[in-house]
Amino acid sequence: MLALKTSSERNVFLLYPMFDFSANQIMESIGSLYDDHGWGVGKDDSLVNRKEKESFDQHHSSPLYGEIMPAGLQHILDKNHMNAASATCLIDLGSGKGKLALQAFLTFPNLQWVTGIELSYERFKISKAAICKLYYLNQKYFALNEGKDFIQLVLLRDGKRKLTIFNGNFFDYEMLVRGADIILCETELRESNQSKFVQLVKNMRRDARLLMYDSLGSFPEMKHVMTVGNHQYGQLLNVKTKQTNVFLQEIKPHDRYRASWSEKAKFGIWKVLY
Ligand SMILES: C[S@@+](CC[C@H](N)C(=O)[O-])C[C@H]1O[C@@H](n2cnc3c(N)ncnc32)[C@H](O)[C@@H]1O
Repeated sequence: MLALKTSSERNVFLLYPMFDFSANQIMESIGSLYDDHGWGVGKDDSLVNRKEKESFDQHHSSPLYGEIMPAGLQHILDKNHMNAASATCLIDLGSGKGKLALQAFLTFPNLQWVTGIELSYERFKISKAAICKLYYLNQKYFALNEGKDFIQLVLLRDGKRKLTIFNGNFFDYEMLVRGADIILCETELRESNQSKFVQLVKNMRRDARLLMYDSLGSFPEMKHVMTVGNHQYGQLLNVKTKQTNVFLQEIKPHDRYRASWSEKAKFGIWKVLY
């Protein structure tokens, strides 16, 4: 097991991989990479300045902020929910300050590609600083690639696994979404973007698992929702093309997960049947 020293001042060590870590240990280790050490409360859009607000409006997107707590993410990614242990590629649509992507990357050595996409440059900059800190404290384990709108950490073992964060609109990264087994979208979707989101879902691979903040079941494009036992099954209709070729199953519909704005946040987790 390799030990990653994350903060010499606080002498916090991060053992990789972290799958046996408690939620508190994850909070301390990943928190030490951030100046504020903490997880953000809900509705915090204070980082988004006026210029950024305009950009959000142009993209019909919402800057609403909040983070899934480490305990919530452990629950979401376990065998009974999104089953990250059986996946290769995970993507966080609206990755905020990058804590969720970091936790997934450091917990599941089987995930070869972990990607976050964040529209706010200010939030992207914070995730970039945390990843740089991890890199500079552990240079012999990692390589770092950087560009104007992305940062990529490569772990030089376990098959050169990659953690990449892009600064951009996730609707422009359809090809990456197509390749993912696990897609998290804990992002408020404006009504004007719902049809575009349906298009994204229609291109997801079979067996992909999708976590939604908004209820997919309430989309006007979601037709013929039927309940069998505890599970809902729904068919997605694309209003423009009238195609109806995506069936989804809701996994564990009544579960709750810890998030920064609620002890018991509700998300929908869906699986693409075909
Ligand atoms: C509720 S936060 C989730 C943060 C992160 N997933 C976590 O749990 O730590 C939602 C994020 O989505 C971002 N966002 C909203 N619309 C977006 C879009 N179209 N493309 C990229 N990011 C977007 C917001 O700026 C915000 O940071």
